[in-house]
Amino acid sequence: MKYTITTPLYYVNDKPHLGSSYTTIACDALARFHRLKGNTVLFVTGVDEHGQKIERTALEKNLEPQHHCDTITEKYIFLWDKLNISYDRFIRTTSPEHIALVHEFYTRVLASEDVYMGRQNGWYCVGCEEYKEVDNREKSHYCPIHKKELEWRDEENLFFKLSKYQDQIEKLIKADGFISPNSRKNEIINFVSKGLRDFSISRVNLKWGINVPANKDHTFYVWFDALLGYLSGSLTDPMVPELNDNSLVNWPANIHIIGKDILRFHAVYWPAMLMSAGLKTPVSVFGHGFLTREGQKMGKSLGNVLDPIDLLEYGGIDAMRWFLLRDIEFGEDGDFQIKRFVDIVNSDLSNTIGNLLNRTVTMSKKWFQDCIPVDDPLLINSQLREISKIKISEYMNSFNNNNFKNSANAIIDFANSANLFLNERTPWKLIKEIDKRDIVAKDIYSVLESCRLIGVLLYPFVPDLSTRILKQLKIDSSSITFDKSLVWGLLNPKSVLPNPKPVMDKIEFDEL
Ligand code: MSP
Repeated sequence: MKYTITTPLYYVNDKPHLGSSYTTIACDALARFHRLKGNTVLFVTGVDEHGQKIERTALEKNLEPQHHCDTITEKYIFLWDKLNISYDRFIRTTSPEHIALVHEFYTRVLASEDVYMGRQNGWYCVGCEEYKEVDNREKSHYCPIHKKELEWRDEENLFFKLSKYQDQIEKLIKADGFISPNSRKNEIINFVSKGLRDFSISRVNLKWGINVPANKDHTFYVWFDALLGYLSGSLTDPMVPELNDNSLVNWPANIHIIGKDILRFHAVYWPAMLMSAGLKTPVSVFGHGFLTREGQKMGKSLGNVLDPIDLLEYGGIDAMRWFLLRDIEFGEDGDFQIKRFVDIVNSDLSNTIGNLLNRTVTMSKKWFQDCIPVDDPLLINSQLREISKIKISEYMNSFNNNNFKNSANAIIDFANSANLFLNERTPWKLIKEIDKRDIVAKDIYSVLESCRLIGVLLYPFVPDLSTRILKQLKIDSSSITFDKSLVWGLLNPKSVLPNPKPVMDKIEFDEL
C-alpha cells in the first residue's frame, strides 16, 4: 500500500525552531513506522519562501529575498539531516518546477471558472499571512498568535470561489477520519457552518511571489502558492510539473500533519482548491498542539524559541526525538521543561532500556561462553512472550491512530516487565545451582529476545538508538520489517554477542 505524509512547508523568516522540529520528527516517526509496515512511503517536507513576511525579513537584513531564502533553507536541510529525518522530497517554493506547477494548477482553477477580480479590505497579520476577524469596538487590533498589531489592507485582488464548495466541504469535514483530533474537528465544523466566504488568492504591491499570468501587477497569495507544494512533492517526475493522471505519484496525501493554527487552510481552503482543479482531496489532516515554553507558544516571531541545535548538543538526537514523541500527547499543547526532559530520557532510555540490555548481555556472555543461550528458542514459553504480544498490539493500535505517546508507553511497559521478570527470576542466584542452568538459559534468552523486540519497536522513534540496540544483539537494522521482525524467537541462539557497551549515556542535568 502507498502512504503519503507531509509536514507543513516552513516559513523561512528565521532558522528552524523546536516547534518545527517537533512536527518534522513526528512525521518522520510515522514515515518510518509505515515503511516497517511494508508500505511504499512518500514523505514530503520543504520550505515556504514567498510572501510579505519573508520579503520584509530580507529587507530588514538588507538581503535579496532569494539570498535570504537560500541561507535559511540551508539551515532547515542541515537540521533535518542532524535529526535523521528520512524525507523523500524537499520542496522549495522558489524552485522553477514549483512555479511552473502553480501556473498549471491555476489554469485548471480558471477553467472551472472559480476566479474573479474583487476588492479585499480588512485587518491583516503578516506573521500568519492571513486576514483576521476583529472586534470593531476595539481601537487597535492584535494577532493573538503573534501579539503584533494587525495592518489595514484595501486592495484589488483575485478571488477564489470558496463559497461554491460549501456543500462538498461540509460533507468532507464531517467524514470519519478526515480531521483529527476530534476536538479540532468541531472547531472546523463550526467555522464552515457559518458559511464559507470567497478568499483572495493574489496580492498587488508584493513583488516577492509567483506572478499571476495575465494579471501583471499581481502575485499569488503565499498560501495559494505554498499549499501546492504538496503536489510538487508528489510529482512522478519532479522536473515535469504537469497535472494529469500519470503525473502524480502516491496522490492523494494520506496525512497532512500540521499545527492547529493552520488547520483551516488545510481542512477547508486546500480541499476546495483541489476540487476546483479536479484533483483528489487528502485522506486526512492532523492538527497537533503547540509546544510552549513557560506557557507561551514558542515561535520565531515571539523570540522565545529553543534552538534545536542547542538541545541536540545538550541531549543528543535520541533524547530529543524520544522526549518530544513520548512526553507530549500528540494533538495537545505541551510545555517544554529541561528538568523533565532530562528525567524522562534518563529514566526510559538509559535506565529502563539501556541497563536492561547491558546487564543481560553481560550475564549471557559470562555464563554461556559469550553467546546467546538456548538451542531451541521456540521451546521458550516465558511470560515475556505473552506480554510482548499484548504490548506489540497496543503499540500498533496507538501508532495507527498517531498516538505516539501511547505507543512509547507500550515499549516502556514491556521493558519494565522484562526488568521485573529478571528481578523475580534472579538468574544471578539460580546460576549457582548446577541443575538450574537450563532455566537460567531460557530466562536470559527471553529477556534478550524482549530487548530485540524493543529495539525494533523503538526504530520509528529513535532510529539511532534502535540501531545500537540491535547491533549489540548482532542484528542488522537495515533489513527489519514488522512482518519479519516482530515474531518471538528470532534471536539467533549460540551467536556470539559483542562486548556490552552502554547504548544510551545519561544526560547530566544543567540549565539550557
Ligand atoms: N508556511 C506555513 C505553512 C504552509 S503549509 C503549505 C506556516 N509555516 S510556519 O513555519 O509558520 O509554521 C509551520 C508549522 O510549525 C505550523 O504547523 C505551525 O503550527 C508549527 N509551529 C509553529 N510554532 C510551533 C510551536 N511552538 N509548537 C508546535 N508547532 C509549531 O505556517
